[in-house]
Amino acid sequence: MSVVADTAAPARPLDTDAVRADFPILSRTVRGGSPLVYLDSGATSQKPRQVLDAARAVYERSNAAAHRGAHLLSEEATDAYEGARADVAAFIGADPGEVVFTRNATEAVNLVAYAMSNAATAGPQAERFRVGSGDEILATELEHHANLVPWQQLCQRTGATLRWIPVTPDGRLEETGLDELITPRTKLVALTAQSNVTGAIPPVAEIAARAHRAGALVIADGAQAVPHHRVDVTTLGADFLVLSAHKMLAPYGIGVLYGRRELLEAMPPFLTGGSMIEVVRMEGSTFLPPPQRFEPGVPSVAEAAGLSAACAYLNALGMDNVEAHEQMLTAHALEALAQIPGLRILGPATVADRGGAVSFTMEGVHPHDLGQVLDERGIAVRTGHHCAWPLHRALGVQASTRASFYVYNTPAEVEALAEGIRAAQRFFSA
Ligand code: ALA
Repeated sequence: MSVVADTAAPARPLDTDAVRADFPILSRTVRGGSPLVYLDSGATSQKPRQVLDAARAVYERSNAAAHRGAHLLSEEATDAYEGARADVAAFIGADPGEVVFTRNATEAVNLVAYAMSNAATAGPQAERFRVGSGDEILATELEHHANLVPWQQLCQRTGATLRWIPVTPDGRLEETGLDELITPRTKLVALTAQSNVTGAIPPVAEIAARAHRAGALVIADGAQAVPHHRVDVTTLGADFLVLSAHKMLAPYGIGVLYGRRELLEAMPPFLTGGSMIEVVRMEGSTFLPPPQRFEPGVPSVAEAAGLSAACAYLNALGMDNVEAHEQMLTAHALEALAQIPGLRILGPATVADRGGAVSFTMEGVHPHDLGQVLDERGIAVRTGHHCAWPLHRALGVQASTRASFYVYNTPAEVEALAEGIRAAQRFFSA
């Protein structure tokens, strides 16, 4: 099972010429006039004109502090912000009250981790979130640092113990030891819905079901999954889901924490300040219900409007078609790269339960050198440990090169990547 929801309708091929025409940046050239071959959408996606226009429209017409002020502009800003919340909620199958806007996925994970340590002093309602000595947090070796370091820190603050699910040699989760790892001591399971390095899609619903039987909460990192698949929180199985808007065609600076309503209602705040309060006295304060309880400070209205436009753009393409397009590109890349002598793909060799992040190493060529040769040809990839250092260590490498695909990429760009890698190989073996 995967995060990918079942669908009856066959996928429709994306019209990539039409899609590409919506992205102004794709018409620029780089490095001496080469066309831009952008294969780094796992780091951040490009933004279509529709998203840029939606964000600009807020600044040009309705710029005001949402949820504050008695004037028309504030009312429009509030409508744009709350409308965006409803659109994002619909995009992931949630209710608007279950969607908390954060700065990004990283902040959303930290929100839950700090809420859990704040639970120690938050009264009986927060009992479910309390962790201490004897409790365990279960992460995985597949995680991005954003869904690992906050849990290490929570354990350090509370005396809980961090455990983790190891990975297989092809970069999937090793599921054989789960019965020993998920026990009544487990308070929370943190796992990615798609690896940003190997592309592996873990069986989130199955692991969540086991976690729930043991009484644990589950948080899924959807940063690499939600932009690329139809993800529905009603079938995903996780109690919490986080995402970053900038990886799904939307602006920087806005992300989402989805949480089941009853959990958000019981959870203490992380960041505190204006507009998340009910009553403030010098002696102390009480807090609003979710989602406002978790959103202090003036809201990022333009960014939210951009995210709403990104959801509309992806909905118009159809998430099943988006997924099928990336699967076609990934299959093409796996096949083309497998023909290159000395190249090792870090991750599953087929597209089954696998997304469009293709990381690899090259015998005799350091990833940074390879990245530079590709860049000279106009091809943008990511090199390094991709914020997943323990995963690289587990796979026996220090660093890798990663190509990651999205709606605007084409088979010709995959071929340009393969040719660029061969050129680098020739250059470094000469
Ligand atoms: N998390 C982003 C990536 O994997 C930055 O590239």
